[in-house]
Amino acid sequence: MSIRWKLVFTYLLLIILTLGLMLSFVMTSIEERNIHDHRDYLFTQANILSNQLIAEFKNLSQPHTNDYYADVVVNFSKEIGSRILIVDVEGHTLIDSYSEFTSDATIINAELDKAIEGTQSSGVYRFDEIGRVIYVAVPVQTNTETMGAILITSTLEPIYESLSELLSSMFLLAAVCIGFTVAISFIFVEIISSPVEKLTEIVNRVTYGKYDEKINVEGNDEIKVLSNSFNTMMTKLDQVDTQRKQFVANVSHELRTPLTSIKLLSSSLLSDETTKPEIYKEFLTDIDSEVDRLNEIIDGLLYLVDLEKKELELHYTNSHVNYLVAKVVHQMRPLAKQKNIQIDLQEDEKVWASFDKTKFHQCLSNLIANAIKYNHEGGHVLVRLINKRSSFTVQIIDDGFGIAEESLPFVFDRFYRTDKARNRKSGGAGLGLSIVQQIVHLHQGEIYIDSILNEGTTVTIDLPKGII
Ligand SMILES: Nc1ncnc2c1ncn2[C@@H]1O[C@H](COP(=O)(O)OP(=O)(O)OP(=O)(O)O)[C@@H](O)[C@H]1O
Ligand SMILES: [Mg+2]
Repeated sequence: MSIRWKLVFTYLLLIILTLGLMLSFVMTSIEERNIHDHRDYLFTQANILSNQLIAEFKNLSQPHTNDYYADVVVNFSKEIGSRILIVDVEGHTLIDSYSEFTSDATIINAELDKAIEGTQSSGVYRFDEIGRVIYVAVPVQTNTETMGAILITSTLEPIYESLSELLSSMFLLAAVCIGFTVAISFIFVEIISSPVEKLTEIVNRVTYGKYDEKINVEGNDEIKVLSNSFNTMMTKLDQVDTQRKQFVANVSHELRTPLTSIKLLSSSLLSDETTKPEIYKEFLTDIDSEVDRLNEIIDGLLYLVDLEKKELELHYTNSHVNYLVAKVVHQMRPLAKQKNIQIDLQEDEKVWASFDKTKFHQCLSNLIANAIKYNHEGGHVLVRLINKRSSFTVQIIDDGFGIAEESLPFVFDRFYRTDKARNRKSGGAGLGLSIVQQIVHLHQGEIYIDSILNEGTTVTIDLPKGII
């Protein structure tokens, strides 16, 4: 059952329930009110008649008096549209306005019994032939004695007839209300369910790899919020998909380059049987270094994947940052020396912080290696350590090749290398900065890179000191 029908049925059920409850409440109170009013009217009339009869009541059994009062009672009965019975204290009929009971007939009736005992009473009964009837009985009494009673029997059918007429018109009104509710709920449900259906349709298409889908919903309700979240998700998914494709393309490309050279080298060795041992050695050395490069790329990739999966837990230890920075600088000096590059260390204050020593070491050596690799012979590298209140900053400043403005946004991408680096043999896999960025982010830190082509580069890392 679709959400549309569920909603329509819910509305329908609600309106039917409300109308039903309202109708039954209104009808019962009208019914009770009418019967109550009619009963009061009959009691008043019975008491009026009782007052008229009281003086001559004792003589009612006399034929002459009886005849006279029988006429009075019949007229009265016609006036109020009800049957009137006058009985003595024994319950013997004295006058019956319908003249059905003979003067001696004894009437057995609960209301009449109570009236003879001195209290007026009433009761409603239902008979198959004549429908609902009300009995009202009052005593005919002086201050000292009860002489008899008056019983008025009146049909309630006119009240029920008008009630059923009212009920029919109420039903008609209810039917119109239900009709309107169904129509309005259809419109509402359409407004609610159509974006949901649209969303479902798009989600289905996404399952088949269409990530550029967007949903457009008017208004600002929950569905709109959901659609916005969906659109944001789709944008991210699209980016991830593009990155994934790019990544696969890059990996294949990066792996193919060393593999192609290995293939070329080994093929040429195999095809020429007269190759001298020196050439063998030279080619095998080249193959060996290409295999190393392959290994390096694969290790870097696996490490990056682990970092991204956040599977590599950080092992925080309280460390002396100055000591660690000095150590890395010291370790990088031989590499710098090969290009006659001078590395300086500038530190103002002692800094203590809590971080993963091994990974931080890796960041620094990667960045300093870049500053050396992408630098001229005899260049300069400056490593600065700046202490701040709740964080510390390390800057690696070089006066090397610099990075063109258009390349800057991509340097943190995996496998990205500027054209200059690509053309140089010394160029790495293009994974170093991605790894550094991941590590810094894992530490909740920030990394920025500023560079001017042919002037130099400054990489800034800002790491929180953590809980020391
Ligand atoms: N200090 C720098 N000066 C100039 N260019 C830089 C500098 N640091 C990085 N780059 C440029 O950014 C690119 C990406 O650097 P990254 O460290 O990620 O890769 P890589 O050094 O080429 O390889 P890897 O570090 O994986 O061995 C480099 O190829 C280089 O073009
Ligand atoms: Mg590098």
